[in-house]
Amino acid sequence: MSLCCWFILLAFIPEALSTDPGVIVKLTDKGLEYGRQLGMAVIQKQLLTIKVADISGSESVSPIGSVEYRLSNMHIVDVGLPKSEVDLVPGSGVRLFIGNAFISLHGDWKVKYLKIIKDSGSFDLNVNGLTISTSIAIKSDETGRPAVSTVDCVASISSVRVIFHGGASWLYNLFTSFIDRSLRNAIQTQVCPSVANAVSQLNSQLKTLNVVAQVDQYAEIDYSMVSSPMVSQSSIDLSLKGEFYNVGKHQEPPFSPTPFSLSSQLSNMLYFGMSAFTANSAAFVYNSAGALSLYITDDMIPHTSLFRLNTMTFGAFIPQVAKLFPGLLMKLLVQTVKTPVITFEPNNATIQATGTVTAYAILPNTTLSPLFVLNLETSVSTKVFVREMRLAGAVTLNKMDLTLRTSYVREFQVKSLDNFLQVVLKGVVIPKVNGEFLYFT
Ligand SMILES: *[C@@H]1O[C@H](CO)[C@@H](O)[C@H](O)[C@H]1NC(C)=O
Ligand SMILES: *[C@@H]1O[C@H](CO)[C@@H](O)[C@H](O)[C@H]1NC(C)=O
Repeated sequence: MSLCCWFILLAFIPEALSTDPGVIVKLTDKGLEYGRQLGMAVIQKQLLTIKVADISGSESVSPIGSVEYRLSNMHIVDVGLPKSEVDLVPGSGVRLFIGNAFISLHGDWKVKYLKIIKDSGSFDLNVNGLTISTSIAIKSDETGRPAVSTVDCVASISSVRVIFHGGASWLYNLFTSFIDRSLRNAIQTQVCPSVANAVSQLNSQLKTLNVVAQVDQYAEIDYSMVSSPMVSQSSIDLSLKGEFYNVGKHQEPPFSPTPFSLSSQLSNMLYFGMSAFTANSAAFVYNSAGALSLYITDDMIPHTSLFRLNTMTFGAFIPQVAKLFPGLLMKLLVQTVKTPVITFEPNNATIQATGTVTAYAILPNTTLSPLFVLNLETSVSTKVFVREMRLAGAVTLNKMDLTLRTSYVREFQVKSLDNFLQVVLKGVVIPKVNGEFLYFT
């Protein structure tokens, strides 16, 4: 099963929770089915390790009298779990039901009767119609990792059949029923402890889950759970922190998550909802790391553009540029001056950024000579959807305001540069941002 169909929905619910998540993951019963398959493999393995202690005793068998018996070297040779299902238990966890299971066991038998007569052989035991029903609670541990525990467990066996090999058949047919009962009890009492063992083994695997992932050289994301999973009739909702941090430096941003919820559409295995908090914490991290800056050179301008990033193009708007720096290529530095603000509406994410655009002429000896600095106020929106595990968006430029901050040449009309800078923003900066920051795998 692949996690093919992620879904984003960003509806806000005005209610206060103690710790609000940045990300919600909704696991539907289709996702649970996947968990069931994993769990069954662990349980099957565990049942195979059941150890049955030697059983001995004596029974009075008519007409011989007292027969002493001993069953030893018993080991499970096969476990079959053909039927199982897992259901959600609202408010607590899941219930696992295993039906029609069977266990095969092999062992040795020995008897002694009439004081001196001894006999021995081996036997096979088939336990049929084993049913196991167990409730498993799912919580968050103190580190934000999932922790599971068995709440209750009932196991029952509908029939056992012993086949003896060797020895006198008339004899063991007489006491088969005693042995059946002892073995049935010995096995039945061990099934639930085995299941509990399997569940706690699962736990030690869960304890090693990572809850922080490094995203790149600047950022890591903390996706530990902020509260225990919420189990409802149809899904398990995991509330994850979903907060970006600078690598190795956990500085909290000056904002905190607000409550949000996912839609109740449940046709896929897994739903994933990211809040604006998560996106803003990423913006905060990249901005503080100084990573929200981009040098733009002529080779990055789309080939179809009539405008080239050189002093001739700019000379058309600012004649002094062409006069002082004839025939030179230029370079632009676009950078944020404060943390961009990201807002989410259903299927629409908007980024508002305040920054500067610095234009340089590239001198023949590669030194950059500054020409002017512009203030940039921009807002772009993207219709968010998910394509191949990656957020994608059809980006539209809502706003781009440019004002002159500093000029190293003569004053000029900034408005005249609008078209060119729109090409730069749409053709270079936005695709770059889309490629580097709007990803989430
Ligand atoms: C997205 O939201 C922004 C800000 O509210 C708005 O200006 C823009 O028109 C919206 N775009 C779409 C496609 O709904
Ligand atoms: C490059 O050339 C400019 C202008 O001719 C000069 O001012 C600058 O010092 C030179 N830089 C280097 C590193 O040679």
